[in-house]
Amino acid sequence: MEKFIIQGGNKVKGSIAVSGAKNHALKALAASLLSPQPMTLTNVPEIEDVFRLLEMIQEIGGKVTKKRRGTYIIDTRNVHTSSLPKELVPKLRASVVMTGPLLARFKKVVLPHPGGCAIGRRPIDLFISGYKAMGAKYRFRNGVHYFSAPNGLHGTRFVFSTISVTCTETLMMAATLAKGTTTLVNTAREPEIVALAEYLNTQGAKITGAGTSEITIQGVKELSAGNCEIIPDRIEVLSFLYLALSTKSHLKITKCDPCTIETPLQLLKDSGAKIAIQKKSITVYPWKKLKPLKVTTREYPGFPTDGQSPLTVLLTQIPGESIVEETIYSDRLFYIDLLNRMGADITMHTPQHITINGGTPLRGKDVESPDLRAGIAMVIAGVVAKGKTQIGNIYQIDRGYESIDHRLRSIGVRITRKRS
Ligand code: EPU
Repeated sequence: MEKFIIQGGNKVKGSIAVSGAKNHALKALAASLLSPQPMTLTNVPEIEDVFRLLEMIQEIGGKVTKKRRGTYIIDTRNVHTSSLPKELVPKLRASVVMTGPLLARFKKVVLPHPGGCAIGRRPIDLFISGYKAMGAKYRFRNGVHYFSAPNGLHGTRFVFSTISVTCTETLMMAATLAKGTTTLVNTAREPEIVALAEYLNTQGAKITGAGTSEITIQGVKELSAGNCEIIPDRIEVLSFLYLALSTKSHLKITKCDPCTIETPLQLLKDSGAKIAIQKKSITVYPWKKLKPLKVTTREYPGFPTDGQSPLTVLLTQIPGESIVEETIYSDRLFYIDLLNRMGADITMHTPQHITINGGTPLRGKDVESPDLRAGIAMVIAGVVAKGKTQIGNIYQIDRGYESIDHRLRSIGVRITRKRS
C-alpha cells in the first residue's frame, strides 16, 4: 500500500500540462472492440483505470502494443470471447462500456455485475433497457448479466429516463453496427461523447447529433482501422485551477481546452477570480478577495460532479458562506468529514447539500482517499494545510491522475510517495 506525504502551507508556481482525459480514453479503448482492424490511440493517460481496461482487452484475446508513453496500438482481431473477466470487472465501473461493442460485434456478451462504488448507487438498468430495445435478450443469474442478439442488434428509438454519460456512449457504439437507424433521445452531451462520435465517424460510422440531446446512428456493416487522439482532461484542468486558487498562487495550465469548462470558469469569474483564458491554456493569478459561491452539480454543460470535491477545498478558503448541492450521485459529499478534521467548517444538511463557512485555516492530518475525486481534494487540502498531511488509499488517485506526485513536485508541491 502506498501513501502520499505532503508538507503543505506553500504556494505552487510555474506551469503544468494537462493529460489526456480518462473518460475519453476508456471509451476509445472500448471502441477498439468494434472492428477487427487495429486502432492507434495517442495522448492516452498512463493511469490505473486505463491499465485495467487494457488488461481486460488482453484477457479476452486483444493485442496491446505500447509504442511510446501515451501511444498504444490495439488489435482486437483475435478476441475469442465476449465474457468479461469476473476478477477485473468489479475493479472498474467503466468496464460496462465494453458491453456495447462486444454485443454488436459478437452478438452476445456476459458481464459480471460491476457493483456500486463509494460515490453512490451505480445501477445498469438503462443499459439493459437500451439493449432490449435494440432486440437483445437478457438474463440475470448468480450475479452475472447475459445479453444475446443471435440475429444482431437492430435500430430503435430509445429515450433515456435518466441522462447517463457511459450509457449514451455504450448504446451509441452498439448502434454503429446495428441494422437500421437508432435514435437516442435525452442523451448526455459531454465533450468526451462528441470526441468518441467523431472518432467512430472517421472509422466509417454514421453518427450525427453527438453533443446535443438527440443522437442518430445509421448502422453500417463494419468499421475500419482508426487513429484517435485523446482530448485533454477537463476535470484535471479544474483540479489544477482549484489547487492554484486554494493556495493563492500564480499558475499556468497548458494543453487544455477551456471551451469544455465554461460553466466552472464563469463561476470563478463571478467569484472575482483573476484568470486569463487563452486558446489552449489558462493562467491563474493570486487573489486577495473572492466571493463565496452557490454551486449545483449538473449534467454537461452544467457544473460537473467530478469537479465538486476539489472546488469545495477552494470554498473552505473563501471567507463567507458557500453552498454546494450534489445532484448526480447520492454519496459524493461524505469526504467533508475529512476536510472538517483538517479545520474546515462544513455542515451537511442532507447527504446532497452542504454549506461551507469558508476562510478557516487547514491543518495537516492523516486521511484516506475515499474515491478518485475526493482523493485529489485531499491532495489539494494537504497542499493548503500547514504541516504534514498523510493520504492513504492513493490507488484511488492513481486511477485517474497520471504520475500526480511527480507532476505536482514540478510546480513546487512538497509531495512524496511512500510504501507503507
Ligand atoms: N444511472 C442509472 N442507471 C444506469 C446508469 C446510470 O440510474 O443504468 C444513474 C447513476 O446512478 C447516476 C446518473 O445516472 O445517478 C448519472 O450517472 P452516469 O451514468 O452519467 O455516470 P457514468 O456514466 O457511470 C461518467 C463518468 C463519471 C462521472 C459521470 C457523470 C466515466 C467512466 N465516468 O460516469 O466519472 O462522474 O459520468 O458525469 O465516464 C470520475 O471520473 O471520477 C467519474 C466518476
